[in-house]
Amino acid sequence: MLSISVEEFLHWKKKQLSKGGDQQSFAVLLDCLGGISISDLNLIIINSGRNLHLKKNLDFLESIWNEHLIKSCPIQYLCGITFWRDLKLKVTNKVLIPRPETELIIDIVFNIFRKKSEKLFFAELGTGSGAISIALALAYPFSDGVATDIDRDALEIATKNYINSSKNANLKFYCGNWWSPLERFKGKLDLAISNPPYIPQETYEKLPKEVKNFEPKVALLGGEDGLKHIKEIIQKAPLFLKEKGWLILENHFDQGEKVKQLLIKNKFTSIEIVKDLSGIGRFTIGRYK
Ligand SMILES: C[S@@+](CC[C@H](N)C(=O)[O-])C[C@H]1O[C@@H](n2cnc3c(N)ncnc32)[C@H](O)[C@@H]1O
Repeated sequence: MLSISVEEFLHWKKKQLSKGGDQQSFAVLLDCLGGISISDLNLIIINSGRNLHLKKNLDFLESIWNEHLIKSCPIQYLCGITFWRDLKLKVTNKVLIPRPETELIIDIVFNIFRKKSEKLFFAELGTGSGAISIALALAYPFSDGVATDIDRDALEIATKNYINSSKNANLKFYCGNWWSPLERFKGKLDLAISNPPYIPQETYEKLPKEVKNFEPKVALLGGEDGLKHIKEIIQKAPLFLKEKGWLILENHFDQGEKVKQLLIKNKFTSIEIVKDLSGIGRFTIGRYK
């Protein structure tokens, strides 16, 4: 542990932020590598006589911040960690950094299944870091979950994140294309969730470099119109869901109406486009008959 005065630290922090970057990324750097959260920092500032204790020295933290600014590499990949809801998750460039807007998927599930003692059987398709499945497995401790991904490296990270977050064993991971590793669970699911790759080809080409140069293409690109994977997931969902089972999908900002039509075509009912906190129809949900 390295002890420095609050004044010295605040001066250094101001200098780093004056070079560029945003407060949120800086907070991730401080928390993950410096070992000091924003709330700890605020408390120390209020009691300004106290010294601050950091896990790494300022030169090291500055070198990571510079790398983030120069290469446009997401700070989460440089630190190897991200925060999502109340989870602290390991991330590498093999997995998408779970986004804050995706956190709402968990609240949508909470609205549908209100009792935390429910024995749900849920599946997540395309789990990446495991964020969604792990949050659900923790919130519904009597449930069982299965999470899939096409990428073995991603599944390895998701498995580590689950082991680090939970003492239970109510979540299992399978490798393969969308529903294919789940054949044995046909007709058994109460709930299926997916935040699949949904970026249309043309939009993908124009993504900011911090996304396009670092995050996995397989996690982002949804084919020519962005709907390639969403179509496949919806078409096969009726085979795997129980009658009245729910499907929850995240989609691109302008895909809600198209996803709704796909759900109608595949005999889903109770269809709703759910807005995210920016008022964007980010999620489309429905029930199989
Ligand atoms: C947008 S990311 C979502 C990751 C995570 N669920 C989240 O919300 O942060 C999509 C995930 O789907 C996976 N994926 C892409 N194509 C797939 C396929 N054909 N079958 C299964 N998973 C796939 C990717 O590897 C990636 O982890």
